[in-house]
Amino acid sequence: MTTASIDVLRAAALGAMMRAYAPYSGFRVGAALEDSEGHVHVGCNVENASFGATICAERGAIAAAVASGVRSFSRIVVATEATEPTPPCGVCRQVLVEFAPAIDVVSVTAGGDEAPWTLDALLPSPFTPQSLTHQ
Ligand code: THU
Repeated sequence: MTTASIDVLRAAALGAMMRAYAPYSGFRVGAALEDSEGHVHVGCNVENASFGATICAERGAIAAAVASGVRSFSRIVVATEATEPTPPCGVCRQVLVEFAPAIDVVSVTAGGDEAPWTLDALLPSPFTPQSLTHQ
């Protein structure tokens, strides 16, 4: 298994953050998703005048990776300009667990702070594809 370095992932997440479309919240987010072969897929938040149509950075990265044929992931780095590292929102946790229940999550700030979690800790007792088989 090849891995991308945290420096590469951090730079990719911060680069995607700079391309965020966030005119309503002003809260720019970038995500760099490392797949199990060490390739990196990026996403940024894309807001909409109909606020509920907004797409988060993490889900953008997942969608880009899946569209390129990849479904196995080891790590996601999320970048913001917040004063403290921010974890993924609940919807993004749910989307991550579909493909990568054991993924490592790292949040970085433009100011250089960093915090690590596991998705397992962020989303205990998840609803997963297996849940659908218990009918
Ligand atoms: N946002 C993300 O991109 N990812 C998250 O995990 C949390 C929130 C975006 C959505 C919206 O564009 C802005 O941040 C403020 O909520």
